[in-house]
Amino acid sequence: MGWSKPGPLTKPGHGASFRSVNADLSFDLLFRMANDAVFVADAGDGTVLDANERAAEWTRRSTAELRGMPFTGLVAAQDRAWVESALHAKDDEETFGYIDVSLERARAAPLPCELTARVASLDGRSVHVILLRDLSERMRAMEDINLRNEAIASVASGVTIADARHPDLPLIYVNRGFERITGFSAKEAVGRSCRFLQAHDRDQDQLDILRKALREGEPCNVRLRNYRKDGSLFWNELHISPVRTAEGELTHFIGIQIDVTDRVLDRTRLEASERRYRLLADSIDDVILRFDADGTIDYASPSCERLFGTAPSDVTDRSFAALIHSGDAQALAARWRGVIESGESITTTFEMHGRDGKTLWVEATESPLPLEDETAPARIIAVIRDVTPRVHAAEEMRRALEKEKQLNEIKTRFIRMVSHEFRTPMTGIRASASFLRDYGNSVTPAKRERHFANIENALKRMNDMLDDVLFVSRSEAGKLPFDPKPVDLAAFCESLVEELRTIHGAERIRFSNDLPPGGRFRLDTALLNHIFHNLLSNAIKYSPPGEAACFHVGREGSVLRMTVEDRGIGIPEEDHADLFEPFHRARNVGTVKGTGLGLYIAKRSAELHSGKIRFSSTLGKGSRFEVHLPADTPTEFQATHQ
Ligand SMILES: Cc1cc2nc3c(=O)[nH]c(=O)nc-3n(C[C@H](O)[C@H](O)[C@H](O)COP(=O)(O)O)c2cc1C
Repeated sequence: MGWSKPGPLTKPGHGASFRSVNADLSFDLLFRMANDAVFVADAGDGTVLDANERAAEWTRRSTAELRGMPFTGLVAAQDRAWVESALHAKDDEETFGYIDVSLERARAAPLPCELTARVASLDGRSVHVILLRDLSERMRAMEDINLRNEAIASVASGVTIADARHPDLPLIYVNRGFERITGFSAKEAVGRSCRFLQAHDRDQDQLDILRKALREGEPCNVRLRNYRKDGSLFWNELHISPVRTAEGELTHFIGIQIDVTDRVLDRTRLEASERRYRLLADSIDDVILRFDADGTIDYASPSCERLFGTAPSDVTDRSFAALIHSGDAQALAARWRGVIESGESITTTFEMHGRDGKTLWVEATESPLPLEDETAPARIIAVIRDVTPRVHAAEEMRRALEKEKQLNEIKTRFIRMVSHEFRTPMTGIRASASFLRDYGNSVTPAKRERHFANIENALKRMNDMLDDVLFVSRSEAGKLPFDPKPVDLAAFCESLVEELRTIHGAERIRFSNDLPPGGRFRLDTALLNHIFHNLLSNAIKYSPPGEAACFHVGREGSVLRMTVEDRGIGIPEEDHADLFEPFHRARNVGTVKGTGLGLYIAKRSAELHSGKIRFSSTLGKGSRFEVHLPADTPTEFQATHQ
């Protein structure tokens, strides 16, 4: 505990003589009961002759121990010399001034004391009556005040105190913070009203608030334009508090000045950029959304209405994920975390719910928003553009390209097929024609007839092939005619079976029919012909001679179910996927003739009826094709078409 160096001993006033005090009976009482430590020391050698209880307590020695000790031995080493010289410099019956000393204590820190002494005469002996007063409390209080003063002096903000009893409220204190902020020294500021900081800029709304508060002795907060000593502007956030006595009398005002220039300028800049940004957001066609890491929107631009059919206010506080078509909330949250963590923008294309329940394709660029300050939540800004027409055009283009590719593929296969399949009948025609030209007149009519029949068959075969090719080209162009009419399906199938039996032999087709006799269904007979002619011809073509193909016609509820089953060579697994593609032929067909169009034509014909063909096949064991066509109620047709 430090304390100030003692000043020079001052002359005391007129104190009573020790002798006369001693004569008083109450001295003894005073000596013992005093709150101060009292020592009586020999003025000659300085030894303690007596000491009171307080002295014993403070020095942590008994009065008996104290007696006989040199008094100066009880004070701290650094104080001894001058205490001694001070005591010996005085004449009889004079009182010393107050001096600060430290009293040594056994097993304790020295006790700061105020020492006062008087020379007195005791029983003819010159003595020093020494009084020590405990200063530790006062020291503590002083230290406390010093600490507070230092704290006030060293805060970064300005701290000022004005005298409220003077009409102009002159400053009586300014701290270092004030000096630093304003550039004015304490010397230049103290004694003046603080209005000098306003320079020429006296027309400020906030000054009226301040004046009123000062007039009424009320606290207030204002933000003023002030000017430093060098004339530069700073924004001063001023807090004023009145100070009153216990009786309520206003004595001072305390002012706290905070330089908020950076904050004000930042805000002004921010507001300007926000204005620019809103102007932009409000006037562009793209939708701008601002949302936090969870996707909760806090700003949506007006174009939201046009794109999503929702007012911006209806979107705010909602989740962005809810606007996204099949928005996987978890995946989106991960994407947004990525944007915030990486600080990088990303552009993605996805589907959103558009106006009138439509689905929109949008391209969104999501960028992290710079933080306004560290406590602000991380946010993302998304610029969303409707790219539906572009996506549809691209899709259209992709489809067209795909179609083009398919057509090219078909053409290639067609050329391959023509070069293979047309060659044989043409060779046959050429051979028969040259035979007839060279030997037509010399051969038997029967032989000639055979050659004509050969030519006719070859031409028919070529014609059939051309019909098939025409079917493909019409089908690809979407121009296949579909002309359904009420048909007695059982009768139709029977006649078809008969026709094929004539060509291939009766034993080659086993036919069964579950349909009610005379049942009529709305079907296109030309297409039906394509379906079953092809399926049955294949079944016969790819079965060993003598083996029959089974043809069954029936109905299951609303479906006409017709099956063609054979025990032929079967279809290799690898050909299953492309089996219905035009010009595709399974790899195990060997020398069996065919264009690779039959199944394609059958399938397209079923599809035109809104039906389908399914198949299953095991290599070497046979195949089973199942045709499903929608059945209309026979009675309905009987009613309308008969
Ligand atoms: C303690 C205290 C601190 C003040 N600090 C400032 C200050 O930093 N800047 C300022 O422009 N005015 C400050 N003022 C206000 C002016 O001193 C003055 O009271 C104000 O301009 C209104 O008075 P006027 O109308 O006579 O100018 C302070 C006033 C008080 C009492």
